[in-house]
Amino acid sequence: MSKANDKQYDVLIKLLLIGDSGVGKSSLLVRFADDSFSQSFLATIGIDFKIRTVKLDGKLIKLQIWDTAGQERFKTITTAYYRGAMGILLVYDVTNPSTFESVTSWVRAIEQHASDSVNKVLLGNKADTAGALLEQRRVSTEAGQKIASQHGMKFFETSAKNNVNVEEAFFAIARDIQLRLQ
Ligand code: GTP
Repeated sequence: MSKANDKQYDVLIKLLLIGDSGVGKSSLLVRFADDSFSQSFLATIGIDFKIRTVKLDGKLIKLQIWDTAGQERFKTITTAYYRGAMGILLVYDVTNPSTFESVTSWVRAIEQHASDSVNKVLLGNKADTAGALLEQRRVSTEAGQKIASQHGMKFFETSAKNNVNVEEAFFAIARDIQLRLQ
């Protein structure tokens, strides 16, 4: 660890969460950074961020995670943040097919506005429990996997609510970025 400037970490990694409004981007971030969850929906206004420092392969990695508003009216503000992102987590909601149909246009936005080397993961969120899943799920795991591999993205089904695959997803993209930077 650097002593000269009192840095509390070895590497700074900037991540960005994107996807339609209501898919659970803020919830995934709050789960990852604060280990909590709320049922109530407070749409993000513009952009927000949280920090979590993790240990990865013996190094302290400071994750600065930017959470964008999914609502169309914030698009100009939020796309300005793509350029600085080292990794992008693109989120849809497995119970809401229209958010899955938007994935292609979000990928196009990444291609237009983010750096060419940016790492990407696709998250199908709200994959809560086996029982509820059978009734509520409207996008299959296979469909998610297929579009992720078409665009060279890793894929996870997550639940911010039940804390499923949240750590795994953030650690996977952080590790890929760290490998790329080395
Ligand atoms: P914007 O800020 O408008 O872009 O929305 P967002 O993508 O940040 O969505 P947010 O995290 O605010 O979540 C929207 C709603 O979905 C809230 O009511 C959450 O409680 C709920 N939600 C988020 N994640 C999950 C999940 O894993 N399972 C379930 N059942 N509900 C979830």
